[in-house]
Amino acid sequence: MKFDILLGLQWGDEGKGKIVDVLGGNYDLIARFQGGPNAGHSIEFNNKKFILHLIPSGIFSPHTLNLIGNGVVIDPAVFRKEVESLGIPVEEAKKRLIISRKAHLILPGHRILDAAIESDKGCRKIGSTLRGIGPAYTDKVARNGLRAGDIFSADFEARYKKALGEHRRIAAMYNFSYDLSEYEAGWFEGIEMMRDFKIINSEYLVNNLLASGKKILAEGAQGTMLDVDFGSYPYVTSSNTISAGACTGLGIAPGHTGEVFGIFKAYCTRVGSGPFPTELEDDTGEYLRKKGAEFGSTTGRPRRCGWLDLPALKYAIMINGVTKLFLTKADVLTGLEKLKICTSYLCHGTETTEVPFDQDNEIIPVYTELEAWKEDISRFKNYNDLPASLKEFVAFIEKNTGLPVAIISTGPDRNQTIFR
Ligand code: GDP
Ligand code: IMO
Ligand code: MG
Repeated sequence: MKFDILLGLQWGDEGKGKIVDVLGGNYDLIARFQGGPNAGHSIEFNNKKFILHLIPSGIFSPHTLNLIGNGVVIDPAVFRKEVESLGIPVEEAKKRLIISRKAHLILPGHRILDAAIESDKGCRKIGSTLRGIGPAYTDKVARNGLRAGDIFSADFEARYKKALGEHRRIAAMYNFSYDLSEYEAGWFEGIEMMRDFKIINSEYLVNNLLASGKKILAEGAQGTMLDVDFGSYPYVTSSNTISAGACTGLGIAPGHTGEVFGIFKAYCTRVGSGPFPTELEDDTGEYLRKKGAEFGSTTGRPRRCGWLDLPALKYAIMINGVTKLFLTKADVLTGLEKLKICTSYLCHGTETTEVPFDQDNEIIPVYTELEAWKEDISRFKNYNDLPASLKEFVAFIEKNTGLPVAIISTGPDRNQTIFR
């Protein structure tokens, strides 16, 4: 049996949470494989909205198991708050949610270091969500991390204190002042809650499920252009957001990969700093931000908005081995006079369709114009009923990527989803 992967092809916030929730019931297990509470995955149904940061987006499907995989970094304080905000009794959540023993913990000191290091960057700030992600992955790779499985060890508190001492020493080097007491108390309450959840060697679980014919969907966080290897480094997150990350982040061999669902918005957004060739710092950008409610699900920051970037999209498709495309937020483009899609870049006067290495230099997008549509598409249920110009927009993407657009999302609600 193969496992499927759903991941973002842009700079995050493509609508992964919404679509994983829609598909959740078709799978036996939904597994997050990287990232941590920097993610904000929104789900809407029955006029209720939830934003998940750590818990996989299959949690609202009663018969689906959810796994926080070994590749994820967990902040226990966020975990506890999130479990309590689900509207699901904690006893029921314990049945639906499993944690890998090997998932690393975000320690309170990691949040302090995130803030200290970011404030020291001056004009080259990453725009981090300041959730401690970078320092937690740094400690993981430096072999100093504490893992979920460690919370049951007799020497857990001693190891925690040692790590905190080290983090305090580094923060002092940055002359960074902070007060940890309140946050630390919440963190330990989170640890207490985690002790009641199933924390297991999840690599055996996922492989046994696959061997017995069960269906698994790996849920990506962030997006390909924020990948630590292939994104716009250094303006990236600290994990592998790409399909290969699902193998290392869950313990599944690459040969077991089935479908790779690549999700993208009908335009682009980015939160935080870094290159964004098609960014619109004008009325159209403002229109997209307002109509698309483009404000960060985790930090509330306004998202930068711009036209769809085909070279970046094709790059992401290549890196991930995408088999099917899912298009979201097409409804946000309704009402614009003309639509633009970037089809190549001009770098130092030379036209290219490759994402350049040095994105600090000027990149001028070359655009193709397409007809827009005026209809409110959020009420449509069938592909055939969609406006002709939207179908042309979809056909243009399919022709240029060689992939089918299998889902078109026309609004934030579960029901606003068209399958083809
Ligand atoms: P994620 O991080 O990829 O899960 O995406 P976010 O939840 O951070 O951001 C996507 C935002 O767009 C959320 O507010 C969703 O509720 C919303 N959304 C998702 N799909 C659509 C869509 O097709 N149309 C509109 N208008 N909103 C959508
Ligand atoms: P989801 O899963 C959008 C961005 C931050 C910053 C950079 C590094 O909701 O799509 P970090 O906190 O990871 O050190 O920040 O990455 N970023 C995201 N942008 N969506 C996300 O997650 C993001 N997670 C991190 O804004 O630019
Ligand atoms: Mg998000």
